Amino acid sequence: MKTLVLRVDSQKPDATKIRVAADFVRKGRLVAFPTETVYGLGADALNAKAVLRLFEAKKRPLDNPPIVHVCEARQVRELAEGVPKNAERLMGKFWPGPLTLIFRRSDVVPSVTVAGLDTIAVRMPKHNVALTLIRESGCPIAAPSANLAGRPSPTSAQHVLKDLDGRIDAVLDSGPTSVGVESTVLDLTVDPPEVLRPGGIPFEALKEVLENVKLSPFAVAERALPLEKSRSPGMKHRHYAPKASVMVVEGELSAMVEKVKELAGLYTKRGDRVGILGTDETVGNYTASVVKSLGSRSDLAGVARNLFRILREFDDEGVSVVIAEGVPSEGLGLAVMNRLRKASGYHIVRASDCEKHL
Ligand code: TXA
Ligand code: MG
Repeated sequence: MKTLVLRVDSQKPDATKIRVAADFVRKGRLVAFPTETVYGLGADALNAKAVLRLFEAKKRPLDNPPIVHVCEARQVRELAEGVPKNAERLMGKFWPGPLTLIFRRSDVVPSVTVAGLDTIAVRMPKHNVALTLIRESGCPIAAPSANLAGRPSPTSAQHVLKDLDGRIDAVLDSGPTSVGVESTVLDLTVDPPEVLRPGGIPFEALKEVLENVKLSPFAVAERALPLEKSRSPGMKHRHYAPKASVMVVEGELSAMVEKVKELAGLYTKRGDRVGILGTDETVGNYTASVVKSLGSRSDLAGVARNLFRILREFDDEGVSVVIAEGVPSEGLGLAVMNRLRKASGYHIVRASDCEKHL
């Protein structure tokens, strides 16, 4: 299959190109499109065959359901049942935007779209191209991130093509995404509501709107947790990983810099091609085959925007080991740390630890 690349300006989207993409969606085909968080791979959420194709193209396990994207809040009424009161407030405040809400699902939704669960994940993206595509398609669009399963999520059309060229019908290219990490997933079927995945809407912002909201243990895990307790199927699959093995160093800043230097020395001596993922404030301290900065520690939104692109860049550099600095778990830093820890397979090194790591 040839993948059609359709370039569209995100400020003034060319409706004729988006209609070409919408035609594909209506016919049960697959179209990658930009959102404010990452690129999604879209299919008609109410067409079971199309959704099945989606799983195949991504090589995604069938037990991990995609998020269903809408262009108007009232579409939630069709897709979900027993929508709780606090949902209205959340949608009013954060939609369109990077907040995914989990509801009880309605019967119109095919089972494959929700991976057999009795719940459904819904969000309204804050992106002109995405919203126009959904409207023109005339259906809710199921869209996981447009990467091969396990790889870092795509923040540009180039990333999408790297993973999926020839496996999907089209990609709408509107340049790099602005948030850079995926949406926050909030489960509204439990009381109090629980964040299953930290993302583009900070936990602090949810606490301002909800009297009571919790972070799931999976969202802040420092090691792999027993899976039978997980309500979010995506938690159990390895994620966000570049080809190199990744480790995350966490702790107080100066101790962290010393530990990164020590580990870089050890792995270099062992014959590894070492990549270091630091920040503007620290990269001057490091020597290694490849040293990259995520941005400034004082701008965690900027760090989030750069994260997946830089993880992919390490692949192009052919490094065998990536040593990454941790960042503070506040604001968008919580989502960044969740992704880094998962990318490392929970290989977390405490900056104060003295034991040998090799
Ligand atoms: O920002 C985003 O959310 C992007 C863009 C494209 O919108 N999408 C995205 O989709 O990240 P995906 O499929 O890569 O991640 C969806 C997450 C997975 O962790 C999945 O397990 C969870 O949402 N999820 C989906 N349906 C669920 C449900 N019914 N209950 C709990 N978790 C669910
Ligand atoms: Mg994904």
